[in-house]
Amino acid sequence: MLQFSCFCFLVIFFVHTVHADDDKFLTEPPDYITECQIADKNFINCSTQSIQQLFDKLNDGIPGLNSIKSFDPFYLNRIRITQGNSNAINLKVELGNVKINGFGHTNVLESIVYPKDFSWKTTFMLPEMKLQGDYSLFGRILLIPLNGHGQVFLDAENMTVIMHSKTRLYEKGGFTFYNVTDCQVDFKIDGLKSYFSNLFNGNKQLEDSTNKFFNDNWRMLAEALYTVITQTIEDILLDVLKKIFHYIPANFFIGDIPTSKQLYGGGSKGAASEAKRPK
Ligand SMILES: *[C@@H]1O[C@H](CO)[C@@H](O)[C@H](O)[C@H]1NC(C)=O
Ligand SMILES: *[C@@H]1O[C@H](CO)[C@@H](O)[C@H](O)[C@H]1NC(C)=O
Ligand SMILES: *[C@@H]1O[C@H](CO)[C@@H](O)[C@H](O)[C@H]1NC(C)=O
Repeated sequence: MLQFSCFCFLVIFFVHTVHADDDKFLTEPPDYITECQIADKNFINCSTQSIQQLFDKLNDGIPGLNSIKSFDPFYLNRIRITQGNSNAINLKVELGNVKINGFGHTNVLESIVYPKDFSWKTTFMLPEMKLQGDYSLFGRILLIPLNGHGQVFLDAENMTVIMHSKTRLYEKGGFTFYNVTDCQVDFKIDGLKSYFSNLFNGNKQLEDSTNKFFNDNWRMLAEALYTVITQTIEDILLDVLKKIFHYIPANFFIGDIPTSKQLYGGGSKGAASEAKRPK
């Protein structure tokens, strides 16, 4: 009986693997990526241009990579954030059915790759980022006690994002790939328009005056919502970057990237599937 159920489990797992999209990857360099050499003095310029081309391509969809359904607009089911603000009062925010417009117009300002561990520092600018969705929040923003739920609209202007990504190299099919394991962002903006519907359970006058107050004090609002905004962006970017870099070999971005074995040493875990690199 026990053996029988184990067998079933294995069959189901096998079928799932065969159908999974995640296992497909490119074996020929696509024309929308410029290959750079990390040993080259001009690497940062080259890499910046290459990552810009990748972002541009994401807009129409990377051919063969069906797991990223849409980049602009980008849809998030749900995000739940608890943050302590400057007054050490917790703000609990939950967003649902989130739609974000603007990633399609990303300007990549600088793409640095550190040869020591192949982590990245990427700076980019979104001229406009618009978020809309359902919110529920509990806590205080700018000293105003809030406990409501409704619709939220945020419109950030000239959002400059500095992204720090951690990666772990691994080998697949004779290529070296990035496993993007972490993504942390900082941002600054030139403006933030916001609107929260139903902030006070139908008290329209209080809702209007609070929304006006938030818009008049958008810098303070941006600061109060800092964690909410960074975590939303981090969730999106980590998801998208993981999918892209499990699909496109790192060799197509950096011609002289070491293998995981060369970088971490022969005894490291994950070197088991080391395959011979094609000429
Ligand atoms: C990189 O590009 C910038 C402008 O795009 C240029 O000013 C700079 O000289 C370039 N750096 C190198 C090393 O080519
Ligand atoms: C990527 O890293 C995660 C841990 O962050 C790990 O669970 C996963 O197995 C790794 N994937 C590959 C292909 O190495
Ligand atoms: C956003 O950046 C553009 C181009 O640099 C500039 O013209 C515009 O004034 C900026 N917007 C704000 C609100 O500062």
